[in-house]
Amino acid sequence: MCGIVGYIGNEQAAPVLLDGLARLEYRGYDSAGVAVYDGKEIEVVKSKGKLAVLSDMIHGGKDIKGTVGIGHTRWATHGAPSDTNAHPHLSQSGRFAVVHNGIIENYLELKQRLMSKGIEFLSETDTEVIAHMVEYYYKGDIFDTMVKVLNRVEGSYALGVISVDNPDEIVAVRKDSPLIVGTSENGNFIASDVPAILNKTRDVYYLEEKEIVFLRRDGVEIYNFDREPVKKDLTHIDWDADAAEKGGYEHFMIKEIMEQPKAIANTVESRIKNGRIVLDNITLTAEQIKSFDKIYIIACGSAYHAGMVGKYVLEQLTRKPVEIDLASEFRYRSPIVTDKTLVIAVSQSGETADTLAAMNEAKRLGARTLSIVNVVGSAIAKQSDDVIYTLAGPEIAVATTKAYSCQLAVFYLLALYIAQETKIIDCDKLNDMINELLLIPEKVQSILDKKEDIQYFASRHFADKDIFFIGRNLDYAVCLEGSLKLKEISYIHSEAYAAGELKHGTISLIEDGTLVVAVATIDRLFEKTMSNVVEVITRGATVLGVTKETKTIMADTCNFIFYVPESIDIFMPSLSVIPLQLFGYYVASMKGCDIDKKRNLAKSVTVE
Ligand code: AGP
Ligand code: GLU
Repeated sequence: MCGIVGYIGNEQAAPVLLDGLARLEYRGYDSAGVAVYDGKEIEVVKSKGKLAVLSDMIHGGKDIKGTVGIGHTRWATHGAPSDTNAHPHLSQSGRFAVVHNGIIENYLELKQRLMSKGIEFLSETDTEVIAHMVEYYYKGDIFDTMVKVLNRVEGSYALGVISVDNPDEIVAVRKDSPLIVGTSENGNFIASDVPAILNKTRDVYYLEEKEIVFLRRDGVEIYNFDREPVKKDLTHIDWDADAAEKGGYEHFMIKEIMEQPKAIANTVESRIKNGRIVLDNITLTAEQIKSFDKIYIIACGSAYHAGMVGKYVLEQLTRKPVEIDLASEFRYRSPIVTDKTLVIAVSQSGETADTLAAMNEAKRLGARTLSIVNVVGSAIAKQSDDVIYTLAGPEIAVATTKAYSCQLAVFYLLALYIAQETKIIDCDKLNDMINELLLIPEKVQSILDKKEDIQYFASRHFADKDIFFIGRNLDYAVCLEGSLKLKEISYIHSEAYAAGELKHGTISLIEDGTLVVAVATIDRLFEKTMSNVVEVITRGATVLGVTKETKTIMADTCNFIFYVPESIDIFMPSLSVIPLQLFGYYVASMKGCDIDKKRNLAKSVTVE
């Protein structure tokens, strides 16, 4: 999720670590820290906030002696941003220091087991269990120790470890989180990403899954978990720093679009255990859930569009009435709220002023509040009664994509959880839906693998002046998001319409060649939407159809068709939104727009 840097060589380590972390700042973080072995012990300095705070604390690193160390910029997933929760984390005796990118999914049970053996924890993070486990299992062989620890850990990790017992090496390992190794005459490096070390070396090894590396001053040794040496070719990086920050992609937005399968998997998989939905951190009881006679969803922008999907999904699975409202409207409409109302606030940043104010208005009126947020420890997360985090990782592009997709995933999880806890769907059906939900990441990937088809279609329409999106039910909710993506990054005027509503006025705007994107993935409404497609075609529209692979008949009517894999209706938004995100991105890119920084837009709207 965020940034790791490690260095062992002839130079003072702390300034090198700070320089590397500074080159990873673009990835977004909330705290930072370094650990350096100074010849006697491991010194750890860490703080919440920007890297400059840390750097000032140690005068640019000059205060910390020692030539072997690890550094970290944290994007919190477990435990709000704080000095104590920042990495590196020390083992109880202080002999081992650890930095970690990723999520230790079974950390709670590991933490309880360690605490039962008298080990004291200082932080709320999942990562700290690693530091204590390394010390607990260490009997003199650090390789054997690491394998023992990692065989007991579930989840994703890129880890860097230094120890007093092995002062002349850094041990690092990865599973599901990226980690590279850099080599040079002045020393060797580990880093989450190339930009961190590009000014020191362009010769890197890309670690593969479950490869463990030992970094020493005079060299690097890489093994698999069976202790077999792994032969790797050095890769010479010829990217410039700017391209490297985006992982080789041209813009953060396309990088984040491509990260969606992993982001959705991170959000979903850690909440499904033994065929059940497990929402560890929410305090809502089944009794309380049963008592709710109304659910409100409040949000802004894309979060509102995700909430629209959430409305359909929650109503379908829980049979409770769900109303959705723009946060800026909700707070001024004297909403009918009681202590039997659940209000769900959705926000990527967790700092949107309208959403925060609306949620607090709901609390004042007696509602129970639950937030769906991407930034751990943000205002909305902290002030809601319960929070379910999207685990999308830092989202840099102003136009949200992966966070929106993870909001959808959380709504699926929440609706299934409520249905499970109130027993209104049988176990077999629940199981089938959970199994289908676990397939969504790979289905999203299969759509991304066809991105050139959308790129081609965008090349024919990037000069259009007006583009309409139509759909019904969940497809309409997705059209709202597709239209906003197009508008906010390409500046082309666009509108999303409930397909059945178009004929009540707006159809008069359809002229020869007007592009209409028709989303038709909901089986029981397919014919209805097709009749709306015919309506616009008879008025001269060009239609891009987005539908399931099984609905090839749509190709007979539309000018262009984009198929998405089959899934159950309530999960289709996660699939049909992908071609719309790509369409907006490629149109804007072909128009030469500045994709990641949009005129008049901010990533987080913290004013009314
Ligand atoms: C989405 O691409 C926009 N950047 C914007 O609509 C955004 O979704 C909205 O401002 C809400 O932000 P939030 O999710 O951080 O609350
Ligand atoms: N899950 C760890 C934490 O919350 C690591 C987060 C990261 O990848 O920065 O501290």
